[in-house]
Amino acid sequence: MEGSSALLVLAFIAAVAFIARIINRKPHRKLKHPPGPKPWPIIGNLNLIIGSSRPHRSLHALSQKYGELSMLKFGNIPVVIAASPEMAKLFLKTYDTVFASRPAQSGGRYTTFDFSDVTWAPYGQYWIGAQIFLTEVLNPKALKLYEHVRVEEKRTFLSRVHSLSLSGKPVVLREEVYRYSLSTMSKTIFGRLCFQSHESDGGNTLTLDQVKALLDECFVMGGALNIGDYIPWLNFLDLQGLLKQMKALYNKLDRFYSDMIDYHLTHRELSVSINALDSLLRKVRIPPEVKLTRENVKGMLQGLLAGGTDTSVIAIEWSIHEIMRHPRVYDKAKEELERVIGKSRWVEEEDFSQLPYLEAIIKESMRLHPIAALLAPHLAMEDCNVAGYDISKGTVVMINNWSLGRDPKAWDKPEEFMPERFMVEEIDMLGSNFALLPFGSGRRMCPGYRLALNIVRSTLANLLHGYNWRLPDGMTPEEVCLEEEYGFTIHPKIPVAMIIEPSLPAHLY
Ligand code: HEM
Repeated sequence: MEGSSALLVLAFIAAVAFIARIINRKPHRKLKHPPGPKPWPIIGNLNLIIGSSRPHRSLHALSQKYGELSMLKFGNIPVVIAASPEMAKLFLKTYDTVFASRPAQSGGRYTTFDFSDVTWAPYGQYWIGAQIFLTEVLNPKALKLYEHVRVEEKRTFLSRVHSLSLSGKPVVLREEVYRYSLSTMSKTIFGRLCFQSHESDGGNTLTLDQVKALLDECFVMGGALNIGDYIPWLNFLDLQGLLKQMKALYNKLDRFYSDMIDYHLTHRELSVSINALDSLLRKVRIPPEVKLTRENVKGMLQGLLAGGTDTSVIAIEWSIHEIMRHPRVYDKAKEELERVIGKSRWVEEEDFSQLPYLEAIIKESMRLHPIAALLAPHLAMEDCNVAGYDISKGTVVMINNWSLGRDPKAWDKPEEFMPERFMVEEIDMLGSNFALLPFGSGRRMCPGYRLALNIVRSTLANLLHGYNWRLPDGMTPEEVCLEEEYGFTIHPKIPVAMIIEPSLPAHLY
């Protein structure tokens, strides 16, 4: 065949192949997204959530309408809401590797030194290294080394409560519980207190109230929805004024953690034998070979202090509120403590396994009042099909913990406070039962749950064991507040004031 004819044949074959390809081309598959309200141009569905004082409830109402998996758009960003144990399991277990990252939101950037803490760090080398470090600091063996801190702080707490109880007047325990939790976390992390006190004020410029205000602001800003995160070209306008507040907060946090680090470097020998800051500063790198900067250290300290202090306090507070609303529960808990511990000593960490009713109260409180009503947001790292729906890379996933605890398919009479439900069957709260996820589940599950549960159990058990509680005259159990105040975490709007009277022999106080 001559060259020109061969070319003609090849051209003919190519043309036929091209036409055949066009004819056979499958139509581009239309993506099937979870159902949800129609988004507006530019803002998407932001109107449904901005300004909501309790977004978990707004999202719960949305799920009631659109189903256990629904989708919104915040600006141009798809946001998927998972509102049933089955859906939570798909995101946190079946496809955990796909959804184990976090969106880069301003709240995370400014409150955690550019995503240096474990909570906000995107999934990757840095997060893995930071997580390994936290496991070293928070595993059972390490916690045993810090046990003396918890024992000491518990003693101080109980003796302060005793002084308050002597007045015979109603006492609000929120402040005392906060002091106890912050002192315990502070000594575990820094090896000393991080606020001014007669015990150790060397180098501390902030009072307890100022540190509390700082950490509270972190939670509020961490949970704040900044419009500019979803409509980036509007970010420079800072329409809600949030960026300005976040930058000011960043500067305050920077001063606080810089002071703590500098003081530690010059007075290392004064701190208790072992603490997280010391082990962090001795590490130049964290595995797998990630170089650790001073900003990273500040971020990790922030993750531990903020993540560990308020959360335990809130868990304790909700339990106290529910106990005060249910005298029957109070009586049963007191009876258990008297039977197991007796009247001649306080409750120790080794006793917890013998106190199933106390454990049931804690679980039931966390079911109805999950501290993180919405788990920290997860982010899809690649396209994925979940329950028959297409979820695109870059989608933000919100797991509505508040909905999980109220799922009528999972819980009998879900609105009722009934610790007894945990006495008839073993229900786990550490990530394997997807109807009860106070600490989340999967790769991003809370690494501090052991320490948290130690603090929560110890405080509640000893308050109940060492004191008789009653409401002030004229106040009924139904009047104890269950209204929620929302930030990144949720606490009771009005703390209960109660009269407490010592119930153990005087020499124990
Ligand atoms: C009752 C107390 C606590 C509760 C209810 C709680 C709950 C949670 C929840 C729900 C998450 C998010 C899980 C997810 O995104 O799926 C979380 C993450 C985290 N918690 Fe806790 N927590 C508590 C105490 C603590 C303590 C004491 C510490 C540290 C000492 C701590 C450190 C963290 C950290 C670092 C993360 C981020 C994990 C990650 O994103 O990889 N938490 N916690």
